[in-house]
Amino acid sequence: MRIGVLTGGGDCPGLNAVIRAVVRKGIDVHGHAILGYRDGWRGPLEGDYSELTIDSTRGILPRGGTILGSSRTNPFSRDDGPATIEDLEVDGLIAIGGEDTLGAAARLHAEHGIPVVGVPKTIDNDLGGTDRTFGFDTAVHVATEAIDRLHTTAESHNRILIVEVMGRHAGWIALHSGLAGGADVILTPERPYDIDRVCRLIERRHERGRYFSIVVVAEGAVPAEGGIATATAGVDEFGHERLGGIGHALERQIESRTGFESRATVLGHVQRGGTPTAYDRVLATRLGVGAIDAATEKKWGQMAALRGEQIVTVPIADAVAQLKTVGDEDMAVAEVFFG
Ligand code: F6P
Repeated sequence: MRIGVLTGGGDCPGLNAVIRAVVRKGIDVHGHAILGYRDGWRGPLEGDYSELTIDSTRGILPRGGTILGSSRTNPFSRDDGPATIEDLEVDGLIAIGGEDTLGAAARLHAEHGIPVVGVPKTIDNDLGGTDRTFGFDTAVHVATEAIDRLHTTAESHNRILIVEVMGRHAGWIALHSGLAGGADVILTPERPYDIDRVCRLIERRHERGRYFSIVVVAEGAVPAEGGIATATAGVDEFGHERLGGIGHALERQIESRTGFESRATVLGHVQRGGTPTAYDRVLATRLGVGAIDAATEKKWGQMAALRGEQIVTVPIADAVAQLKTVGDEDMAVAEVFFG
């Protein structure tokens, strides 16, 4: 078989581990030819690819990013997009991506019969159909290390340090890094926050003799009363706003209400870059093997997913049917440690 592979959307640590696994098992075990398409859906749309070999994918397991490049190109934003992909000279495609890339893959399969298998990736961990996405563990690890470092300087200066993390409209990175880093307040998009309550929690720490605090805020968090824009100008081809800015807004609000010196740190793309953790390397490798096996068995429209400890296949549509967000039970654990 000739199998194409592409990586779309925001990159994340572990993409290269998936590519390596697809190539190794695809060529060595199944005898396929593996074509690497460049920059997500742009590659198939523009015929931009090169054949991947075991040699050309050596040494990439610990490397962050993606050797194929990535983009937020939407094949449905071009009239001839689906038809162009239908005409590719491949027996199947493996699309490694998040909500948007997999959403497009699900539609290409359902509406145009395109033979595609999915692999779920995103640092945000917000996809359905899988218990975990690779990249998330690395992002949490990076954010936790940053929180640990901010703790010591916060304590030295008796400051309130606000740490803005990624996650789009899901608070998983904020919740897990905040829990792991011992944050005093964690704010997620799922629960609009009350600034008076945030300040009360910080003041309570002062009354208990703790003159510094760490507030972890997800980039998509919003105040209950509204009024703070966390999206900056522009949307991508899938209509997503660019988030950011809530950390600095909180810095000003907390300082003016409590009188305590406050500083914001925006972690940004540091969370997405660099080498994957061992957990993400293993998960990505297992998903890559699952995906090439699924393609070999012509399980089109399916994606490799983690359920419990097992790699299984589920419909790609499950990944994007509903955003997986932080529930009240998850937050309840974190709240024990607030203030
Ligand atoms: O979806 C992954 C993610 O890193 C989000 O957490 C974040 O909002 C977004 O991508 C940033 O996208 P970009 O790299 O296009 O600025």
